Amino acid sequence: MKEKTAVLTPAQAAFLVRQRVARLATASNSGEPHAIPVCFAFDGRLIHIALDEKPKNVPPTRLKRVRNILENSDVALVADRYSEDWDLLAYIMVRGRARLVEAGAPEHSAAIRLLRGKYKQYEQMKIEENPIISIHPEHIASWGALEALESSKPLMDALLGRRSVRSYLNREVPEEVIERVLEAARWAPTPHGRQPWRFAVLRREKTKTRLAKAMGEEWRANLEMDGQSAEVVEKRLQGSRKRLLDAPVLVLLCLYSEDLDVYPDAVRQQSETMMAVQSLGAAAENALLAAYSLGLDAGWVCAPLFCPEKVTEALGLDPRLIPHALLTLGYAEGDPPKRRVRKSLDELVNYWD
Ligand SMILES: Cc1cc2nc3c(=O)[nH]c(=O)nc-3n(C[C@H](O)[C@H](O)[C@H](O)COP(=O)(O)O)c2cc1C
Repeated sequence: MKEKTAVLTPAQAAFLVRQRVARLATASNSGEPHAIPVCFAFDGRLIHIALDEKPKNVPPTRLKRVRNILENSDVALVADRYSEDWDLLAYIMVRGRARLVEAGAPEHSAAIRLLRGKYKQYEQMKIEENPIISIHPEHIASWGALEALESSKPLMDALLGRRSVRSYLNREVPEEVIERVLEAARWAPTPHGRQPWRFAVLRREKTKTRLAKAMGEEWRANLEMDGQSAEVVEKRLQGSRKRLLDAPVLVLLCLYSEDLDVYPDAVRQQSETMMAVQSLGAAAENALLAAYSLGLDAGWVCAPLFCPEKVTEALGLDPRLIPHALLTLGYAEGDPPKRRVRKSLDELVNYWD
């Protein structure tokens, strides 16, 4: 029998991928209900849940949720937002069929990658040895202010939850949210308090296309110089172009050195410029964290740094602005598939007491 497939609306998908926890309801053959909180990832189509190693005394296949699914594959998953401001209340319920995907299957490794990308805690757990639960949505219900501006997340949650997004839904970003993101960037630490950066917000298809084309020409020349095959060059250019055009908003970060101190020697002048670049990085990170904290997703594109003149020309920028990076802003299509790995603190830090 062919499975029914329910497709989430962009607002439902955007709400679902923002949530860090959901409740999974299963039932045994006799209808006895069972509901538990679960971490999950959404790949744009299916919802995946790991069976982690927490209940050490029970093999994963003896877990009640798994036994229920083996008896009866009908499940429901609810993700919700609670707030004391009831104008922000919202939930989504996905009903569908769950199945266990065994380790070794290609869908299994893709799901593990997705889950590890979303939850750094899974990096340390041997979830890859256990089957995962994959839910095929058949019916979706949602209620409330799915699209409401999120009240800001606590800082550590935003720091650990933020991730680079490279694929967006076709959904507009409210002007007010863009402004709040830029407001966060404005408050970054800066050398002498001079704010040596300026931002250009690009939203129009025509402008984004012009920019993508100009940067693409330079990149093509560089890739060809590196001896890449025509096929590879074409594929990479298409991917990068799509990424820029699909993002609802691009923010171009430019260095602006006019207000910096001027030194008679090159060494100090270079340090002054480096400070400005460091500050641009701080402004970018402020923007990324603010975006995440406000319910938006973001990514970083370094391409302008490699062809600043092309960018200036394509956008008709003031020549005193030096293009450094683009931030993409929008709502993620699903949890990003790229695995996020970090060096341990032991590798990064030395204590010289
Ligand atoms: C200076 C800088 C340049 C970057 N340039 C790109 C880029 O051009 N394309 C891209 O996909 N990601 C780019 N990134 C994002 C990194 O790939 C990403 O931060 C890293 O893989 C860690 O993943 P996470 O941001 O999800 O934690 C850049 C990040 C930084 C700080």
